[in-house]
Formats: sequence, structure tokens, C-alpha cells
Amino acid sequence: MKLSEQNVKVKKPRPVNLDLQTIRFPLTAIASILHRISGVITFVSIAILLWLLNLSLSSPDGFTTAASITNSWLVKFVLWGILTALLYHIVFGIRHLLMDLGYFEEMETGLASTKVSFVIVAILSVFSGVLVW
Ligand code: HEM
Repeated sequence: MKLSEQNVKVKKPRPVNLDLQTIRFPLTAIASILHRISGVITFVSIAILLWLLNLSLSSPDGFTTAASITNSWLVKFVLWGILTALLYHIVFGIRHLLMDLGYFEEMETGLASTKVSFVIVAILSVFSGVLVW
């Protein structure tokens, strides 16, 4: 077959689906993307938390400043977000490590462990909110 004929074959009409509204990510894929995002948030927040720890340990005045910073509603909300991201990363990280050991590798068990992990994160997130406020 000549090259030009091959091109014609490749270019024959194929199903095209560009309607993004019809494309749905599976829950396991969303969980995986969130795990990466939560890892990055955790990494970035280490700098913020270390700065805050350093300030609070620098002097009695520094401690008062750190305490007053963390007293604002917005800062508390950010701290709660950081804790939730860390909890998410740990819970789904443990799920990931269990999968490395050979558990939850089937479609159904994988989906079930994702749902259970989401519930655990939600409960722990509420607890961390209580801790922060
Ligand atoms: C300071 C704490 C941590 C930071 C900053 C951090 C950050 C990250 C980042 C950026 C990734 C890469 C994600 C990706 O490429 O998809 C990652 C992956 C991973 N983390 Fe963490 N992590 C932390 C703690 C933990 C803990 C405590 C666990 C244990 C449960 C854990 C379990 C994992 C696992 C299993 C992966 C691999 C995920 C994959 O291969 O898709 N991490 N982490």
C-alpha cells in the first residue's frame, strides 16, 4: 500500500467527542489528582508553619504576635485547610501503600476503599476544625 493510501485510511471519519460536559472522571481518578494537590499543599505549608513556630519560640513578644495572628478567622480557616490537606494526604497515602501491598486492586474494592477514605477524611477534617476553632 502506498503512503498516500495509508494517509487516506488514517484520515477516515472517526468518533470525536469534544463535548466536555459528557466526559466524567471516575472517583478514583479524582482521588488520585487530589492526592497530588494535597501533597503540594502540605509541602508549601511546611514553610508557613515553620515560620509561625519560629516566631512563637523567638521571644514572649513573638509568642503573643503568633497567637494574635492565629486568632483571626481567615488564618484559622487556612490552618484548617492545611490540616485537611495533610489528613487527606495521609489517609489516601496509607490507601496507596496498602494498594502497593496488593490490597484494593480490583475495580470494586478500589472504588469502595476510595469512598471509605473520603468518609474518614471528612470525619477527621471536622475534628481538626474543632481543634482549630
Ligand atoms: C511533609 C509531609 C508530606 C509531603 C510534603 C508530601 C508530599 C508528597 C508529594 C508532593 C507527592 C507526589 C504526588 C504525586 O506525584 O502524585 C507525594 C506522594 C506520596 N505520598 Fe506524600 N507527602 C507527605 C507525607 C506523606 C505521608 C505521611 C504519607 C503516608 C501515608 C505519604 C504518602 C505518599 C504516597 C504513598 C505517595 C505516592 C503517591 C503516588 O505514587 O501516586 N506522604 N507526597
